[in-house]
Order: sequence, then structure tokens, then C-alpha cells
Amino acid sequence: MIPMVDLKQQYAALKPQLDERIAACLASGHFVLGPEGKAFEHEISHYLNCKHALGLASGTDALILALRAIGVQPGDEVITTPFTFMATAGAICLVGATPVFVDIDPHTYNIDPNHIEAAITSATRAIIPVHLFGQAADMTAIMALANKHSLRVIEDCAQSIGATWEGKMTGSFGDIACYSFFPSKNLGCFGDGGLVSTNRDDLAQTLSALRNHGSHVRYYHDMLGYNSRLDELQAVILRTKLPHIDIYNAQRRQVAEWYNEALRDLPVTLPSLHPHALPVYHQYTLLSEQRDFIMQQLTQASIANAVYYPIPLHRQHLFGNRYQHLSLPHSERIAQQCFSLPIFPEMTKEQVDQVTHVIRQALS
Ligand SMILES: Cc1ncc(COP(=O)(O)O)c(C=O)c1O
Repeated sequence: MIPMVDLKQQYAALKPQLDERIAACLASGHFVLGPEGKAFEHEISHYLNCKHALGLASGTDALILALRAIGVQPGDEVITTPFTFMATAGAICLVGATPVFVDIDPHTYNIDPNHIEAAITSATRAIIPVHLFGQAADMTAIMALANKHSLRVIEDCAQSIGATWEGKMTGSFGDIACYSFFPSKNLGCFGDGGLVSTNRDDLAQTLSALRNHGSHVRYYHDMLGYNSRLDELQAVILRTKLPHIDIYNAQRRQVAEWYNEALRDLPVTLPSLHPHALPVYHQYTLLSEQRDFIMQQLTQASIANAVYYPIPLHRQHLFGNRYQHLSLPHSERIAQQCFSLPIFPEMTKEQVDQVTHVIRQALS
């Protein structure tokens, strides 16, 4: 069996340190907003090269709090991609605003900046690019548009920790960046966890209150907030893993190279890299018109596989017929042809060979 991601191996490799630090945390009696969380925020802000980082309960909360912090309100519009996990658009809806979907670049699968300007109205407040599968969206073009139209930018970095655009960390371009530490993410904790980062002092202050019931000083509430803190145990786990993230990401790139090499001559579309982006391969995603057959063969050979994402968000049932007349052909085609293969830092060349052998057979 080859899984999509092997979390047991990662735990086994770090077990002595993790067990010791988790036990120390349990013994400390600090569980929420304590020294581990503070230390983690300090360390990750250094890694992300940003001024402020705040641990939260999830990546979804990170998006919700970021939207609240920049003042998005009911009636506002937020431009984003339809080819992402539901949380990106869900957060927009949950603050009462309207997601405005624009089509993706057919090569990188990220929001296509060429379509953004036509979607801007007097109600537009912000753009949320998603660095999908660990490859940066075109932040040069997106920031130029945002500046021209005085829009705020929230980067969804749930899949892109450590990825860069023109040598700069994803998350360091917009007003706020949002991260997820869901266990299967490139940097994952042992439950749910998330983070916001920003270089703006005013936004950091607001975010800090928003995660703690709208309070800067205990029992004094300045705004309506949430209970959304990264707990101390998750901070301990993330502090233990953070020093390894660049190695994990480099190992993922190595696995992707093995895949590219082995699949190059087959009639599948390999991941297409933008020359300005250094990716971290949260997913290794291919396109094929025969995807269902290939996936069936992989499953039969006990090799995990998945479709991220089968339904573009403007076609999701929950929206009813709100986007009925919206046609986003690249998103719609790619959702029908994409499938992702196992990829994780510990994956071996032999495992990659097993996967590619099955794909080769399926297409022969
Ligand atoms: C692109 C994207 N945005 C947001 C999220 C939400 O993160 P979380 O699951 O931590 O709430 C995810 C996680 O799956 C994601 O992939």
C-alpha cells in the first residue's frame, strides 16, 4: 500500500523529541496561549520573513479572521479562484460577502490575473489568490492590480508554506497570509491548526483580538471575535517540525522530479512550473482524459490517488443557481481531468517506480 502521505513515518523519525516535548508540555499545565505558542509564532515569523505571526485553530479560521481584519462586510465582493478547497470561498461567505470567481491559468491552475480586472466592481474589497498544490500564483500581476484598484490581498498559503515567487516567500506579498497545519499539509500538526501572518502592525493587533473573543485585555471586548487559538500541544509539535520544513519540501521536489522523469513520454499533462515560482509540491497533479481508468488501476494496485478538486466551486450544490450563467472553461475542464499521486518527503524512488509502472501499464 502506498498512501497519499505517510504521517506515521514522519512521527517515527521525530518520536524521541516529540514525545519528550509533548510530555513536558503536559507537565507544564499551560495549554492555551502560553509560552510554546509564543515561541512558535516567533520562530515561524522568522522563517516566513514577516513581522507578525499568530497561531489559530485552523486554516479556515485564518481566512475568516483575515477577512474580518481587513473589514470585509456583508455586501462586499471578494475575487478568488474556483479551483481550490471549499474553505477559501466558504470563509468569504461566512463573513457575509460574495465570492466572485475568475478562471484559472490552464498551466499552473492558479487564478489567472488576466481575468481579474474585468471582475472588479465598486463592491470589490479584496482578492484571495491561492497558491494551489504548493505553487505560487502570479503575485507580481496580482499586487499590481490590487494597488491600481486599492484592493486588499489575502494570500491563501494553506498548501504553499516555503514556496517562493521571484525568490520571496509566498505570504509576504499581500496584506495577510493564511496557513493551515492540517496533518497532511507540508507542515502539519496532530489535529487542526492554522496561522495568519502580516507585516502590518494594525492588522496584527486586530487579528490578535479577533482570535480571542475580540479582547486585547481580559474581559474587555472591543469587537465581536472568535475562540480560535492554536493550542500549546500543537505549537510544541509544530516547533519540533519547523526546522525540517525546507528539507521536507526539497524531498517533495525530488519525488516530483522522479515522477516527471518517469512520466515524460506518456500522454498525460505533467505539472507545469512557472519560471518565477519555486514550488513545494503539496500535491503532484496530472491531467488525463483517461483519469478514471488510471485511478482505478492505481487503486487496484493498492496505490492511493485522489482528485483535487472534482467540482469547481461555482458549480457546488450549496450555491444553487447563483453562478448558473458563469462559464469558467479552464476550471471546468481541469476538474474533469485532474488527479493527484502520492507525494511525501519520505517517499522512495522504488515507490515512485511502482506508481509510474501502473500508470504506464494503464496507458499502454
Ligand atoms: C487551499 C486551502 N485553503 C484553506 C484550507 C483550510 O484549512 P483548514 O483545513 O486548516 O481549515 C485548506 C485546507 O485543506 C486548503 O487546502
